[in-house]
Amino acid sequence: MARFSDQVVIVTGGTGELGQSVSTAFLSEGATVVIFGRSAESFETMKAELDNSPRLGFQQADLTDEGSVNAAINAVLEQHRRIDAVVNVAGGYFGGVPVAQMPTDRWDQMMRLNLNSVFYVCRAALPSMIARKSGAIVNVGSRAGESGVGGLGAYSVSKAGVRVLTEAIAEEVKHDGVRANCVLPSVIDTPANRKAIPNADFDTWVKPEVIAQTILFLASDEASATSGASIPVYGRA
Ligand SMILES: NC(=O)c1ccc[n+]([C@@H]2O[C@H](COP(=O)([O-])OP(=O)(O)OC[C@H]3O[C@@H](n4cnc5c(N)ncnc54)[C@H](OP(=O)(O)O)[C@@H]3O)[C@@H](O)[C@H]2O)c1
Repeated sequence: MARFSDQVVIVTGGTGELGQSVSTAFLSEGATVVIFGRSAESFETMKAELDNSPRLGFQQADLTDEGSVNAAINAVLEQHRRIDAVVNVAGGYFGGVPVAQMPTDRWDQMMRLNLNSVFYVCRAALPSMIARKSGAIVNVGSRAGESGVGGLGAYSVSKAGVRVLTEAIAEEVKHDGVRANCVLPSVIDTPANRKAIPNADFDTWVKPEVIAQTILFLASDEASATSGASIPVYGRA
């Protein structure tokens, strides 16, 4: 029996580089996967590549907008009546500007995309998980959120926020059958990163499908004793 048979799993940013690996891994282990993202076109392309799996669904949502997130979570609950796991993959990067020169809009954008989005999704999904006394949240932070990194002020703070928010949620729901954990990638081996840093040793970077396996473990019953953890998934970078 597949680990996630009959389970409903939301993957935000499920059409992105890491998100596709996470979504595919859950599908291959029996889950029904609902991707949250802005681009229906990206989703349709991905779905076609996955032979139009009937267990793959999509909710169009701007994760920086709480109303949009609430509507997407409600739509999943209306259709499937349950949410077994939420994986918050969506996020973005901004670096290279010291705090002394940081434009307010870039700061705000990092907080909205990387931190507020995770807060909105967790807040909307948790009540149904608590009511069912079952659920797992896995958030994607970053090694840069372990401590402040020069030139990455906004990104570091937003990802540190994801880590600390995960710990707070884990503490709040520890008696409710719900767990929350976080993974911390370093540099993921993606085409975008290969283009941005062409002279790096790509072999040291962590592959998205390897991170996906850690995420599936954290979402699975095998990790039933683990909540509030931030797991490094650095590869050798
Ligand atoms: N790449 C790395 O080296 C690295 C390192 C450490 C941590 N991380 C973290 O890992 C995660 C995944 O990274 P990645 O490289 O796979 O990213 P990616 O390829 O850029 O994918 C990002 C995904 O987020 C979605 N998204 C962006 N803004 C959105 C919004 N406002 N509303 C809804 N969806 C939105 C995008 O879908 P739409 O365009 O359809 O909206 C896309 O599917 C991120 O949280 C990132 O910070 C990445």
